[in-house]
Amino acid sequence: MCGIVGYIGKSAALPILLNGLKRLEYRGYDSAGIAILQDNKIWIGKNRGKIKDLEIEIGGEEVGGTVGIGHTRWATHGEPSRVNAHPHLDCKGEVAIVHNGIIENYSILKSRLQAEGHKFKSQTDTEVLVHLIEMFYKGDLINAFRKSLRLVQGTFGIIVLSSLQPDYLLVARRGSPLVIGIADGETYIGSDGSAVVEHTRDVIYLEDDEMAIIGRDETQVRTLQDKKVSKSVEKLPFDLNEIQKEGYPHFMLKEISEQPRTMADSMRGRILLEEGNAKLGGLEGYWDRLRDSSRLIITACGTSWHAALIGEYLIEQLAQIHVEVEYASEFRYRNPVIDKNDVVLAISQSGETADTLAAVREAKCKGALTLGLCNVVGSSIARETDAGVYLHAGPEIGVASTKAFTSQVVVLTMMATILGRMGHLAAEDGRMITQELVEIPDKINRILQKQDQIKDIARTMADKHNALYLGRGYNYPVALEGALKMKEISYIHAEGYPAAEMKHGPIALIDENMPVVIIAVKDSVYDKILSNIEEIKARGGWVIAVVFEDDNVVKKKVDCVIEIPHTIQCLTPLLTAIPLQILAYHTAVLKGCDVDQPRNLAKSVTVE
Ligand code: AGP
Repeated sequence: MCGIVGYIGKSAALPILLNGLKRLEYRGYDSAGIAILQDNKIWIGKNRGKIKDLEIEIGGEEVGGTVGIGHTRWATHGEPSRVNAHPHLDCKGEVAIVHNGIIENYSILKSRLQAEGHKFKSQTDTEVLVHLIEMFYKGDLINAFRKSLRLVQGTFGIIVLSSLQPDYLLVARRGSPLVIGIADGETYIGSDGSAVVEHTRDVIYLEDDEMAIIGRDETQVRTLQDKKVSKSVEKLPFDLNEIQKEGYPHFMLKEISEQPRTMADSMRGRILLEEGNAKLGGLEGYWDRLRDSSRLIITACGTSWHAALIGEYLIEQLAQIHVEVEYASEFRYRNPVIDKNDVVLAISQSGETADTLAAVREAKCKGALTLGLCNVVGSSIARETDAGVYLHAGPEIGVASTKAFTSQVVVLTMMATILGRMGHLAAEDGRMITQELVEIPDKINRILQKQDQIKDIARTMADKHNALYLGRGYNYPVALEGALKMKEISYIHAEGYPAAEMKHGPIALIDENMPVVIIAVKDSVYDKILSNIEEIKARGGWVIAVVFEDDNVVKKKVDCVIEIPHTIQCLTPLLTAIPLQILAYHTAVLKGCDVDQPRNLAKSVTVE
């Protein structure tokens, strides 16, 4: 959940490390720091706050060293502060480390090290690692590093810098992602590709329990048991432009606006209009196993879990396959009943969410086929599942997920169509679904034109403290997602609910200060939604409704409407989600919130 960077080469490391940290800031942004080898001493600059605060802290200080490490933090152990910020030094100031992950047995290790006389400065779990290296160091830093890691329980992505061995950096990973960017006489290290892409697209992905010795001219990869590992150099699937704002005030608005293109990219080469079908290369050879599975268990967290719920509706309706949706964090510890005929599909934008990765490993050891639906190419979940599909939605930098969500739903729709066409879904129906699907991007363009109208509605939300989001059927998960977007970026306590459930409690919350956002598109449960609107209005509730363009019924019943183009019921979530993303965005902007880096959040939750 932190971002780590490293550089060794011919150029001054400081500007390269600062830039790399800015690219990774969406991973954690409560404090930051850098260490650079200068005149065979370790220079350190660190601070509470964002990278820009660190730049101010460093000011114009001349730091010309050509090897260094950096860190941007999401605090797990010890509050955000200068002393708890990384890098951490050993007692003699000869070894510095940056770490992404959690050392679960740190307190036992810490008491042992303190008993040996080591002095700790911070409350972090990480600091034990640098003192362990110091304790094991007898002239061979690599050996001391390996011995230290063998004592560690938990997760790590680590980079070590030392004046004892000035000509190389040491890195290792277990559970936290790490990418090594290879260039001519220069090597760039980052928690993900966005930290290195402006310098090179040639990268090496480290696997769990691998380490690398990165010299100025050569990189060696070995296991923690000291076996040599040959690695292939892969190409990053995106370029620098894709991780820049390109004139938008926020990454979130850019990513909302990109959805017509990103959804088209998720469909590209995968839709078979003539046959009313689709094809997903990554799952070729697994369709029969999926089709004949006794259960398809979809597991995920946060927004990806909401997409999973829509996947349940799609696959059960179009393919009549039994689907269960599980919160990964509960699934992994519940000792779930799974057998070898079950298939477990893990959905994760980042492909690094710790709970979802653990759920995959749990399913694997119980013999289920594991599949992944990920956006980040080369991510842990993508590499650890038996097979899977990439979203092709491009890098998602805004912490609040938007384009990844709609692309997840597009791919789940294609999966449901393929499985349906293998069963009772007629070619005619398949053609209707695929034809409507390819028309969705244009319809989203029309919704994106309504920014100003939605901004006006946001003005009436910005001074509220609570909100209720309601939907039925396919749009119940969209209500959950709309509420999550509003929560995570505007800090308004918004709750999503199945509309029918309102009468069983939440209706007690209804009054003129409780905005109710309701999805009221004309589908098989439309009449029920109309009754729910009546119940809310009867209690003085203030209602914002998402409706189809020509709906003149709801308009007369509610306080304001957001109109969207028509589509078929099973595809409505791809349209109804957009106005809710935009509403949350403008409400947060009007409240002066940090939309791309909301407080207390981070883009990828790589710790438990
Ligand atoms: C969504 O806006 C949040 N950033 C968060 O809920 C996110 O969806 C969740 O952490 C899962 O992330 P993943 O898809 O990368 O696994």
